[in-house]
Amino acid sequence: MTDAISISQAQLRFGETAALDGVSLAIPNGSCFGIVGESGSGKTTLMRAVLGLQKLDRGEIRILGKPLLHGRAALKERAGFIQPIFQDPAASLSPRSRIRTLMDEVGTVLREPLAATHERLHVILNRLGLPPGVVDKYPHEISGGQARRVAIARALLMKPSILIADEPTAGLDVSVQGDLLNLLQDIRRSQHITLVIISHNLAIVRLIAENAAVMRAGKVVEAGEVGSLFGSPQDAYTRELLAAWPSVSAAK
Ligand SMILES: Nc1ncnc2c1ncn2[C@@H]1O[C@H](COP(=O)(O)OP(=O)(O)OP(=O)(O)O)[C@@H](O)[C@H]1O
Ligand SMILES: [Mg+2]
Repeated sequence: MTDAISISQAQLRFGETAALDGVSLAIPNGSCFGIVGESGSGKTTLMRAVLGLQKLDRGEIRILGKPLLHGRAALKERAGFIQPIFQDPAASLSPRSRIRTLMDEVGTVLREPLAATHERLHVILNRLGLPPGVVDKYPHEISGGQARRVAIARALLMKPSILIADEPTAGLDVSVQGDLLNLLQDIRRSQHITLVIISHNLAIVRLIAENAAVMRAGKVVEAGEVGSLFGSPQDAYTRELLAAWPSVSAAK
């Protein structure tokens, strides 16, 4: 079966820093895949490369079997099937437009009657615990947690087949974190979406991902099925990371 995302020997330097240092990964179609690793290990860089926002120095990325192309047309086409949820959601919202404008654009892109987009949006906002009135606000008028959920709503509204979320639960209340993860899981299962979750939180990855990769200094140090990865880690760094999350290694 074709992988949703396959990365082969990805290399990318920023000056002296090897942000990606020979990363190879295969993310199966329809699965939930976790990427964990300390700050600066290259997780966001990898995501940006997969989205075509950052060119690799070397290596290859394929999305649903097709080599990743650069340029405006390719970027636009890709938005139809792969959607990001960025680590800093406020930065992905346009400061001068009301949230409604952002959502209505989706209808235009998908060539869907606006009423149908609004209907789907209503359901998504409700599931994310956002009041319908949030669409009348400007990005500076909503909280950080709301901005994150607005960014998630926008991504889901695009009906992507692959969703990559960078720290999707950061800055959310614990109760909302659980709801959000459940929602993402529900949507993934019902719409057969491939979900990639980047997180510092090993407990979250263990809970919702089937497979995961551990990154350190631009390298994947270990990858595999979460049960064995977190249950009997082979790599010293994975063990170190797990030691900071006693509940994860103890969990079944
Ligand atoms: N645009 C850039 N210019 C220069 N260096 C960069 C740039 N983007 C990332 N880096 C460097 O590349 C490395 C990987 O950064 P990256 O943002 O991918 O880490 P991360 O794993 O997402 O970290 P965090 O968990 O803090 O979000 C870091 O050393 C970072 O300083
Ligand atoms: Mg990051």
